[in-house]
Amino acid sequence: MTRAKIVAGNWKMHMDLEEGKALTSEILKQLPDGGSTIILGTPFIHLATIAPMLTSHNNVVVAAQNCHQEASGAYTGEISAAMIASTGAKAVILGHSERRSYFAESDEMIYNKTKAALSQGLQPIVCVGESLELREAGEHLSFVATQLKKSLFGLSGSDFDKVVIAYEPVWAIGTGKTASPEQAQEMHAHIRKVVAEAYDSETGDKVSILYGGSVKPSNAVEIFGKPDVDGGLIGGASLNADDFIAIVKALS
Ligand code: PGA
Repeated sequence: MTRAKIVAGNWKMHMDLEEGKALTSEILKQLPDGGSTIILGTPFIHLATIAPMLTSHNNVVVAAQNCHQEASGAYTGEISAAMIASTGAKAVILGHSERRSYFAESDEMIYNKTKAALSQGLQPIVCVGESLELREAGEHLSFVATQLKKSLFGLSGSDFDKVVIAYEPVWAIGTGKTASPEQAQEMHAHIRKVVAEAYDSETGDKVSILYGGSVKPSNAVEIFGKPDVDGGLIGGASLNADDFIAIVKALS
């Protein structure tokens, strides 16, 4: 089973428009040939400018970091999936732990956002992951299984096939503390098993599962070397072209 290999950058709330264009140009300049898909998860304001910069690179796309679950309406300050798709963006990161904790996004909202994204042809990259307390209590596997069930398993099999899952232990995000390759592998294999139980074993085998949380050039090779890790969701290190490219190379 060959699964899509993906390196996705998550710029979070960094980079003004000029800085974002410069970072994109630098990444494209250094991009190695290879089979991986590269996703640049930028702030909304960059999407319409960066999408046309990528047209000659068929393995590089731009993604939003959130979308609203409703199609349109009186939701001041919000952005719909159709608006994102209209910029030329191809994907959207959903359910990031920062959205879940700072913006009170529930699994149910993330499910509805995933449906909204799919309805506009955007690929959802749906994040799950446990806190340190849950891991220390030995509840990480069951917690992530519940997140998956509530955020994704209402989808039809054909919709689920379009989803990418990102496992991001909350305690590893932006902390410099990476899950060990063994911890990542354990959880990725678990996620695949839970997906296979909810759908079927083929679906479990083919879903791409990215690891996120303090991935750096120095640890990427080891993490990506694990059999159930299909790439990474990269925060801090995606803001520097050299680091991001080194991580892309670690996957190929
Ligand atoms: P980090 O962030 O790589 O800076 O830990 C990852 C993420 O939040 O997606």
